[in-house]
Amino acid sequence: MSMFRRKIITEQPVEQRLARTLSWPHLVALGVGAIVGTGILTLIGVGADRAGPAVILSFVIAGAICACAALCYAEMATMIPASGSAYTYSYAVLGEVIAWVVGWSLILEYSLVVSTVAVGWSGYAVGFLNGLGIVVPAALANGPALGGVVNLPAVAIIAVVSGLLTLGTRESARINMILVLLKIATLALFVAVALPHFDAANLTPFAPYGYGSSAAAGGVKYGVMGAAAIIFFAFYGFDAISTAAEETKRPERDLAIGIVGSMLACTAIYMVVAATAVGAMSFTRFAKSPEPLALILRDLGSPGVATLVAAAAAIALPTVLLAFLYGQSRIFLVMARDGFLPVGLAKISARGTPVRITLLTAIFVAVIAGIAPLDTIASLANAGTLCAFIAVAACVLVLRRRDPRAPRPFRTPIAWVVAPAAILGCVYLFFSLQTVTQLWFFAWNGVGLAVYFAYGRRRATLAL
Ligand code: ALA
Repeated sequence: MSMFRRKIITEQPVEQRLARTLSWPHLVALGVGAIVGTGILTLIGVGADRAGPAVILSFVIAGAICACAALCYAEMATMIPASGSAYTYSYAVLGEVIAWVVGWSLILEYSLVVSTVAVGWSGYAVGFLNGLGIVVPAALANGPALGGVVNLPAVAIIAVVSGLLTLGTRESARINMILVLLKIATLALFVAVALPHFDAANLTPFAPYGYGSSAAAGGVKYGVMGAAAIIFFAFYGFDAISTAAEETKRPERDLAIGIVGSMLACTAIYMVVAATAVGAMSFTRFAKSPEPLALILRDLGSPGVATLVAAAAAIALPTVLLAFLYGQSRIFLVMARDGFLPVGLAKISARGTPVRITLLTAIFVAVIAGIAPLDTIASLANAGTLCAFIAVAACVLVLRRRDPRAPRPFRTPIAWVVAPAAILGCVYLFFSLQTVTQLWFFAWNGVGLAVYFAYGRRRATLAL
């Protein structure tokens, strides 16, 4: 049996089909809910540390590459409106072994996003408690790499969110919508208070570390592209929309609006927030902060607003955790449905939730969140995502060639420019990541391929 065999996507039998209850406003909210998070709230500091005020350009570059990828996602998601996102498209278009690598990379992405966002949440939650006079000891608020013992708040929030998920508390569209509005209001409040302090002098030198990406001592890559490779984290999440394809009322219209709309909305919001932050004070002041936006507000003499922003971030960030933990279980379920992973692990409990895989994932991501530094895990999550984006753009090109007449409810405009731009941009970002991140990514997929050849290949439903 060829390891390049392809899956034919058919509709699920009626009794297994998910109810079609979502339309585009839900999807835009789902997208913004999953996109706006630790990237803009916390990694903006890491980005500024690596690029200086030119982090604004890093946002533009990462956003442009993600926009190209989002257009490709919209074409694939409307052509193949089935669960499983990049993994499913790759299985239908590029063949089994590539689908496996993409699925395995998605598991990395979704898991590590949860860890990263939990660490980002911890920064704001600790700052908020501080504002109330409750001091969390540094040893319990940081992992060993930052001189602490364990990041306890990060572990705690993962326990709470995964507990909610196993109880069957899925993101209800209404709660999600409220929290999304809260996130946007928080960023708007930050801009309203910090923008009047904008001083062009804070923007010089604009790019103190140059425009490319060059490694300094310790392997950290500085420069606009080095920062873009990290800031990329802020933009994804729109891919989570495609995991809801089976539940969408008019997928051919709603998915495209949801994916492209949420992406454009977030890019616009980020530009404004990033320009406000680096214009309000020297980037060196907030670059290493675990809660940069709150720190800026405090330094500008608005401690009350800073506490408010920290509180709102702590309340709203769990939407990203929910979206990715939920998406992770969906990817896992589809891979198990294809015979690739033990079905027992993906077993659905009486409450209708995949308890085992949710708990297993939660333990894995909580350990990482408890001990690993933010930029390290964010970079590795980015590596997994870049792999998935490259695969989706490749699917668009291959299908345009192989089956040019197939119905395409959404056509990527100038696909032969946009899809190669997405691929080249993602490859460039991948190699702008730290070398150690690239090695971890290859090691992860090396293990994955060993599992595929030892187990998945023979067990695949297509092999039976
Ligand atoms: N884009 C999401 C965030 O920034 C993953 O938290």
